[in-house]
Amino acid sequence: MHLPDFNVAKDRTKKENIYIDLKENYSNIFAGKKYFLRTYGCQMNVHDSEAIRNYLETLGFINTENIEEANLVVLNTCAIRENAKDKVFGFLGKCKYLKKNRDDFKIVLAGCMSEQPDVIEEIQKKHKYVDIIIGTHNLFDLPKLLSEHFKKQEIEVYSNSDEIIEGMNYSRDSKITAWVNIMYGCDKFCTYCIVPYTRGRERSRKLESIVKEVSDLKERGYKEVTLLGQNVNAYGKDIGETFSHLLECVAKTGIDRIRFVTSHPWNFTDEMINIIAKYKNIMPYIHLPIQSGNNEILRRMNRRYTREEYLELFKKMKEKIPGVAITTDIIVGFPNESEEAFLDTLDIVKKCEFDGAYTFIYSEREGTPAAKMEDSIPMAEKEERLQRLNELVNFYANKSNQKLLNKVVDVLILGKSEKDSTKLYGYTDTMKLVNVQGPEEIIGNIVSVKINEAKSFSLDGEYIGN
Ligand code: 5AD
Ligand code: SF4
Repeated sequence: MHLPDFNVAKDRTKKENIYIDLKENYSNIFAGKKYFLRTYGCQMNVHDSEAIRNYLETLGFINTENIEEANLVVLNTCAIRENAKDKVFGFLGKCKYLKKNRDDFKIVLAGCMSEQPDVIEEIQKKHKYVDIIIGTHNLFDLPKLLSEHFKKQEIEVYSNSDEIIEGMNYSRDSKITAWVNIMYGCDKFCTYCIVPYTRGRERSRKLESIVKEVSDLKERGYKEVTLLGQNVNAYGKDIGETFSHLLECVAKTGIDRIRFVTSHPWNFTDEMINIIAKYKNIMPYIHLPIQSGNNEILRRMNRRYTREEYLELFKKMKEKIPGVAITTDIIVGFPNESEEAFLDTLDIVKKCEFDGAYTFIYSEREGTPAAKMEDSIPMAEKEERLQRLNELVNFYANKSNQKLLNKVVDVLILGKSEKDSTKLYGYTDTMKLVNVQGPEEIIGNIVSVKINEAKSFSLDGEYIGN
């Protein structure tokens, strides 16, 4: 991707040396300073924030939840839809206000927005109070960039490189479940999507490094890993590996639970299905975005499958993986989506009876092919379609949850419920959220829970044993 012509820092920290001298070189500058980190967007961003946290704390920064006492604010941003971007600009306004009359208040913009030329330009013109813009591929340069910036004044922009980093350290939010990146970027170029531009080409991590990371996590007591990639089935294409081989190697580490997101229907092979069915510690849960149920829209989205092919794959998964739960993503109001095309989407939701779905109104992203497509569908109609779709999606989510009523299921207990502190919460192997009546000692364990209430978005149950 082409970046506008401005000051791009060129010098880079050698990745092998990331941790060796961090403390020695920088801790005198940063020790005792406080950082405030806010994360927007997907699991990939949540995991990147765990790396950012680790860098900052290695440098001597201390976490604060109170932005007013922070010396450094890091916004890890999302660009997938316009409202994600609006939220960040809204928050930047607050930062600008806090920064007034303070020299010791620095603002770093990280994440997907930092890879968009139009955003970078806008920030340089209208939001000069931002200190550093760092791209999604360049996180490992944050320490160096920060130390340089603390000596300089102009906005530092550092984005766009396709290096793949092994051996990254993370300050993980949980001691029970962990995200594990298996690849970066996406080559699919769905016509509506900004991700291939903000996260670059598909790059796979080495199989041995991933397996070692999972084994280490298991040793340290982690119960679950989620293998992360924009498009996990494409894992290994660039290094002569396959996702099914990786899954099998990760399963053999013996870690209790393995999950993976996100899958693309286009390259989900029979072998992958067989491996998922074969290993008990690979969870029977697949997030399989469909986006639309209409062939013409799918073609214009460049999704590379037809509704018939999706249905065939869906059926195969249901047949071969016992008890599998399948969720999806759906976009309504793609440019010039007709009512008939939308009805095809409703129809496929009825056929698949998804366990859940994330639904979105199409949001134009500058620089994507779909942004140039004509669109005569009024926003009010798109909103009305979203509502009709959500009603149907919720109906089937509820139906799937009702099937668990009075059943005993395995739940990995993650902690106390935020909504009701007398209860714990966790997930079934099929990724259903359960609020559990039970003793605190079971946090971190996979336990048997009897379900006594089923709603559309969660289940209630009672701990009955290990
Ligand atoms: N507008 C609306 N939804 C989008 N998604 C991706 N790009 C857009 C866009 N421009 C949705 C897709 C994807 C999910 C992560 O976000 O459904 O699967
Ligand atoms: Fe975006 Fe499509 Fe890649 Fe998913 S597969 S990240 S929707 S381009």
